[in-house]
Amino acid sequence: MMEYVHVAVAVFSLLSLGQSAPATNCESLIQPIQINGRDQLLGRWTFIAESTDIPGSRVLSKMFMGNSWLSSTAATQENVITTSQNQKMFGLCFSLTYNMTLENNALVLVIPYPSTAFLLNTGCPDCMVVFTNYTIGRSLYKGLQLLSRRPKVSAAELEEYKKQVECLNLPAAAILDPENGFCPDPALSKDTKSIDLTSSFNSMGSDDMNLLDKILKSGNGVKLLTEMLSMISRNATAMMEN
Ligand SMILES: *[C@@H]1O[C@H](CO)[C@@H](O)[C@H](O)[C@H]1NC(C)=O
Ligand SMILES: *[C@@H]1O[C@H](CO)[C@@H](O)[C@H](O)[C@H]1NC(C)=O
Ligand SMILES: *[C@@H]1O[C@H](CO)[C@@H](O)[C@H](O)[C@H]1NC(C)=O
Repeated sequence: MMEYVHVAVAVFSLLSLGQSAPATNCESLIQPIQINGRDQLLGRWTFIAESTDIPGSRVLSKMFMGNSWLSSTAATQENVITTSQNQKMFGLCFSLTYNMTLENNALVLVIPYPSTAFLLNTGCPDCMVVFTNYTIGRSLYKGLQLLSRRPKVSAAELEEYKKQVECLNLPAAAILDPENGFCPDPALSKDTKSIDLTSSFNSMGSDDMNLLDKILKSGNGVKLLTEMLSMISRNATAMMEN
C-alpha cells in the first residue's frame, strides 16, 4: 500500500514539475531578455518562422521571406549593427542592407520602416526570438520572428516559439521550409544574380509607406500586390535569361 502512495506522490510531483516548466508559462515566455552587447547578434542567422498582425502577412511572409537569412557585422560606430538580408522569392535572390542601433536593450531600425525590436526568452541555445513593433504609414503592427544559427530547429523548439506567438495573441506563424533552398552570399560568389533593394527602400517616402499600409490593410490589395510582384519577377527572370 505504502509503495502505491510513494509511486503516486512521485508521479504527481513529476506532473506538477512538468506544469511549472517555463515552456508553458506566458509571463516568462514573453519576457524581454537582457542584450549583453552586440557581439552575440553578429554573424549569420536563418529565418525559421514569422508571425505578424499585419493583415495578409501570412501570405506575404511565405512569399517575401521564403527563404531568408541574414548576416550582421559590427559597424564602426558603437552599438550599430549593419545587417544584410538575403531572401529568395519567386526563385530570385534579393538583398536588403540596413543599420540597426542597440539602445536601451532594444534594436532600433529606421529603414526599411521604423521599428523597435526586443529579444525574448528561448530554450533554444542558438536561436533568437525577436519581438518587433513596426510603424508602417500611420499604423502600428507587431511581429515575432524565430531565427537560428541552424537552417532548421527541433520540433520542441518550434513548439516553444508557437506558444510565444499564442501568448502574444499573434496569428499562426508562417513556417519556412529549408528544403526550398537559400540564396548564396552575394559577397562570396560573384556570379550570384541578386537584386539589391537597399536604395529603393532608402528612397521610399512617407507617401509610399502610407500607400503600402493601405495595400496591406485591404485583402484585395495583398492579392494584387502578390500578383504584381510575381509578374515583375517573371519579367525580371525572362530578362536575365535573355
Ligand atoms: C550604415 O551606416 C554606415 C555608417 O556607419 C553608412 O556608411 C552606411 O551607408 C549605412 N548603411 C545603410 C544601408 O544605411
Ligand atoms: C510595442 O507595442 C506594444 C503593444 O503592441 C506596446 O505595449 C509597447 O509599448 C510597444 N513598445 C515600443 C517600444 O514601442
Ligand atoms: C511584364 O511583361 C509583360 C509582357 O511580357 C508586360 O505586358 C507587362 O506590363 C510587364 N509587367 C511588368 C510589371 O513589368
